[in-house]
Amino acid sequence: MTGAEFARFIVLFGYIMIAGVQTASGGQSRGFIGLQNPDSDSVEVDEVTANTLKSGLTTVFLPLVYIFVFAVGLPSNAMAIWVFIFRSKKIHPASIYMSNLALADLLFVIWLPLKINYHFNGNNWTFGEGMCKVLVGFFYGNMYCSILFIMCLSMQRYWVVAHPLTQHRRDNRLAIVVSLVIWGFIWVSSTPLFLYQQTAKLSDLNITTCHDVNVISQDNFQTQNAFLDVQKPYYYFMVMAGMAFAAPCVVILTAYVLMLQQLGESTVGGSSQGKSRRRAMALILTVLFTFLLCFVPSNVMLVVHYALLGQGLANNGYGFYVATLCLASLNSCLDPFVYYYVSEEFREHVKNTLLCRSSRTVERMRVSFSSMKYSQKSKTYTSSSGPTDSSMC
Ligand SMILES: *[C@@H]1O[C@H](CO)[C@@H](O)[C@H](O)[C@H]1NC(C)=O
Ligand SMILES: *[C@@H]1O[C@H](CO)[C@@H](O)[C@H](O)[C@H]1NC(C)=O
Repeated sequence: MTGAEFARFIVLFGYIMIAGVQTASGGQSRGFIGLQNPDSDSVEVDEVTANTLKSGLTTVFLPLVYIFVFAVGLPSNAMAIWVFIFRSKKIHPASIYMSNLALADLLFVIWLPLKINYHFNGNNWTFGEGMCKVLVGFFYGNMYCSILFIMCLSMQRYWVVAHPLTQHRRDNRLAIVVSLVIWGFIWVSSTPLFLYQQTAKLSDLNITTCHDVNVISQDNFQTQNAFLDVQKPYYYFMVMAGMAFAAPCVVILTAYVLMLQQLGESTVGGSSQGKSRRRAMALILTVLFTFLLCFVPSNVMLVVHYALLGQGLANNGYGFYVATLCLASLNSCLDPFVYYYVSEEFREHVKNTLLCRSSRTVERMRVSFSSMKYSQKSKTYTSSSGPTDSSMC
């Protein structure tokens, strides 16, 4: 994206805001998006959408970003799950939340090759309506799942900082129940995405889009009832923007403000204290960065996009909207940094993998195995990081 293009997006963004306000006060229709041709099952789109679908932004830039996300997100999240489940000496709530976060990322990342193919193919979806729904469901499921698990992890981190002396009484059962509730909520709330047609055959461009175009029937458009055709995604994105984005934002910010207060108050010095404080700061900065880059732009644009669609208006910042959704997928690459700052075990595995892969493997397996046996035998074994296990490379 060039600077000029970016400037245009910013201007368009402002324009959408103004259009949104005008619409709310009863402005007239000024465009159309994905109108269903009454004589066939093909769809016509407005010029902005058509140009965006033909542009290098969607056919070159987006797939390159997704390739990056796939190449980084797949191995790092797979390794995280492996470390948290098979390499941890002791399971604790933070690793349960992070395993779920990594699982949500993996479930999204494994479908990315289809999306990459779709964009390189000139935004031509050839895998059918069912696969398109799967892709869309896992895309948004991953986004809101990630936000909710980051929220849980943030609250848990605050709790550990605020009550350092009761750390050994970690409640894994609560973390498991909370995780199951989140998965259940995400599965149930995603239902609307599966209930309406996601693919659209565009007659002008000779392509089939997946999710990129919302179809509005000619009748409903002319009788100003466009809302009837977009109400399922409209309610989904509005409810999720409130419950799975805005509310978690408030909780996360509160947790971090309280955490920073605690870290500021704790006067006990020592280098280990300083180190854990630096890691807590790094975690906070990582999460803030993830939100500013991935979740805030996409959620704002989703609300604007569907608010406009509900009024039968085209989104003139369509390219910007598509780009913010692509940015949202980067969260799968940023989550490993969260694991890195929270989990000592993950940190060690990253270092071992990057620095001296093969030479320590045998010894590490032996050490992990013996400490695992030890922790099973003795219930009072509480140290979460035995000094024997930290191999320096
Ligand atoms: C669309 O693609 C098909 C198959 O490649 C081709 O036969 C047809 O002529 C194309 N239609 C237009 C309008 O380009
Ligand atoms: C999109 O894919 C369909 C089905 O494979 C094909 O008929 C059509 O020609 C493709 N469109 C373009 C523009 O390549």
